[in-house]
Formats: sequence, C-alpha cells, structure tokens
Amino acid sequence: MPGPGMELIGEEEKREVLEVLESGYLFRYGSEDDPRFKGKVWALEQEVAKLSRVRYAVAVNSGTSALLVALGGLGIGPGDEVIVPGYTFVASMSSVVYSRAIPVLAEIDETLNLDPSDVEERVSPRTKAIMAVHMLGNPARLDELKAIAERHGLLLIEDCAQAFGASYHGRPIGSIGKAGTFSFNIYKTITAGDGGMVITDDEEAYERFFALHDQGHKPLRKGVEVGHRPFIGLDFRMTELSAAVLLAQLRKLPRILAELRQTKARLKAAIADVPGVTFRHITDPEGEIATILTVFLPSEEVARRVAAELGTKVVADSGWHVYSNMEHILNQRTVTPERCPFTCPYYTSKGGAIRYEKGMLPRTDALLARAINISIGVVDPGLGSAFGVHIGASPQEVDVVAERFRRVAERYVRAGA
Ligand SMILES: Cc1ncc(COP(=O)(O)O)c(C=O)c1O
Repeated sequence: MPGPGMELIGEEEKREVLEVLESGYLFRYGSEDDPRFKGKVWALEQEVAKLSRVRYAVAVNSGTSALLVALGGLGIGPGDEVIVPGYTFVASMSSVVYSRAIPVLAEIDETLNLDPSDVEERVSPRTKAIMAVHMLGNPARLDELKAIAERHGLLLIEDCAQAFGASYHGRPIGSIGKAGTFSFNIYKTITAGDGGMVITDDEEAYERFFALHDQGHKPLRKGVEVGHRPFIGLDFRMTELSAAVLLAQLRKLPRILAELRQTKARLKAAIADVPGVTFRHITDPEGEIATILTVFLPSEEVARRVAAELGTKVVADSGWHVYSNMEHILNQRTVTPERCPFTCPYYTSKGGAIRYEKGMLPRTDALLARAINISIGVVDPGLGSAFGVHIGASPQEVDVVAERFRRVAERYVRAGA
C-alpha cells in the first residue's frame, strides 16, 4: 500500500461515506435547513484549519490544484519568478508554469529541502515568491527561508504535500508562510484517493483562494454575487465523498504519526553505527512525520550498488521527483507551442530568460546520487522508497530490514564499492 492512510482505510471511512450517500448530498453546498446535509467539506476545512492553527482552509481536489489556487490567489502571474527546489514533485513547478510565472530552480542541502544560501543567490528583481517544499515528511529550513523572504519582500509559500501532520519548532507546517498547501493522494499521510487543501491566516488571501477554486464566488457563495465577482475563477472543488473519507482519516492521524515515529527511531538506531552511513539532516526531530528514512552512503558508486542489491534505486534515479529527470520541464514543453510563459513579453521585457538543463544543480545531483530512501510508511517507486517497512510493521520486521541494510551496506562500504 502506498501511504499510511491508505493502509488504514476501514470501517470508519465506510461509515462516513455511507452517511453522505444516504443523505443524497454529494456536492459541497447543500440545504442548511435539511438535517440530512452534513457539510463534510466545510467540517474538514474547519478541522484542518484548527490543526494548522490558522483561520482559513479551502478544500480542493488535489495538491496540484491547491498550489495553483495559492499561487494565483496570492497574485503570482506573468513576469514573476518563483524559487523552487530542484528536488520536489513536478507539481511544484508545473503549478508555477500554469500560473504563467517562471520556476527558478535552486539547490537543496543535506536536509533534502531548499538550501537557503542558494535561494538568496537566485533572488532577482523578478522574484515574487519562495516555494518551500517539505520533502519526505520533513520541514524545510523555514526560519532562514522566512528571513530571506522578509529581507527581499517576497511571499513564502509552503508546499506541505508530503508532510501533512508535521510541525516546525512547535508550529504546524503551512502556517509559517503566507499560504500552505496539502495533498491527499494515495502516497500521503492521509488520503481520499485524491484531494488537497490550501490554508492561510490572511482573510483577503482566503477570499481570493475561495474565488479561484469556485468560479469567482465569495466563500460559501454567500451574499449577492452577480456583478461582484472579483475575477474569473475555476472549479477545483472537493466533493462531500472525499471529505467524508478524509474526516475519518484525520482521526487516525495521531496513531499514524506515533507509529511512524516509533518505527523510524528503531530503524535509525539499528543502523546508526554502520560505518560510512550518515543520515539526512532533520530540521526538527520532534516535528517530522517519519514517513521515510533517508541515508547517505560515502560515494555514488557504493550507494548505487547498495540500492541495486536491496532492490531499490538511489534517489537521483527515482524518476519523478528530481529535476534532471523531468524532461518536460527541462525542455519547457508547454501545452501549446508558443512556450508561454517562458517566452512571455511580461517576462522577457523585464530581462527574464531561463534555461534548465541536467547538471545545473551540481550539489543537488551529488547529494541525491549518494542517497537512498528507506520506507517507514510510504512505499512509492517515484520516491525510490521500494525498500523498507510499512505502517503496521512489527519491531521484528523492522529489525530484519535493518539487518539486511546493515549487511549490504557494510559489505560495499568496506570494499569501497
Ligand atoms: C511535493 C508535492 N507537491 C505537490 C504534489 C501534488 O499533489 P497531487 O498529486 O495531489 O496533485 C505532490 C504529490 O505527489 C507532492 O509530492
């Protein structure tokens, strides 16, 4: 099973969904006078906002939609640059392109998230935002990134798709930037198959997010609207069915986090003394959600051999999440041949010109070539986490995986490859 939430789908989800089906209200809006209408989407928004300690949340149909809503809602568009990490899911870049802005790729460091010093070097007069992506369940260096954003008057957006439930020094992720986005696809902490959420503490941003996700309407479509819609929106609405599943999943979050953290601690301790093996830097060990344990081997060659023997891949080869494997981004392959926004006069007339190529982020490439993702609770070939355990693994199963890793790593480290 891909993610921890999916593994735990059971009676609670069935009951929630049945309640929606029996009510006949599948749409997020319904008659408030009718007790059968349960308002599951609204309830989910309230719960996620509360958990995230912000005032507002808008449920959408995917993490990609959440990013689009956040970017457009914050006014990011033609001529703007958004700094994104070279190690992320493609949606962090494609959402920028579809907002008609330009993704500027930056290096990661041993957190496997944005390297703040590299981010600062890439700030230009066209930069409008920094997108901090909390990869593999771990918050980025938010203090430093926020300071850079403030120094340069930029927006900080948190792509929390892979880290629902995480916090950063006591603050829920997504609440530190101007907006935070989540995904509920099958590889995420909790899931409804697909789904997403955008959160903010800013009322104006909330109204814009709501309008963009629902054809320009005011939140909950209240008030006189014809003639008053602020801009043209789209439809990224979540259905009551998805929200029902997610409400049941949300109640399982404490259990998911407790179990993943325990398993990760056990596995990490069991291989901590393997010579030559080091771990990804975790910005807040208390706040991570422990879905993946990333190890670094001493060299690319050793890492590749260890990965192959364990039936997995080094992170650099893991496909979808590494910029150098995103041929459509590298070639700026847009849906129509004009290659807008890359060729857009709003951009070029401001001096903008961007090229992407393999090897353009050498520190990212070098780190990911030595890295192996061991699953604790997310088995995703696209992340290279085919080796490891899953939620529900017994301590003995964890020990078996640790022992296997130890034997293979020790052999190749000793041999030098
Ligand atoms: C970092 C990151 N951002 C955005 C997304 C997009 O989410 P979705 O698949 O729900 O559109 C994902 C999904 O894998 C992701 O991992």
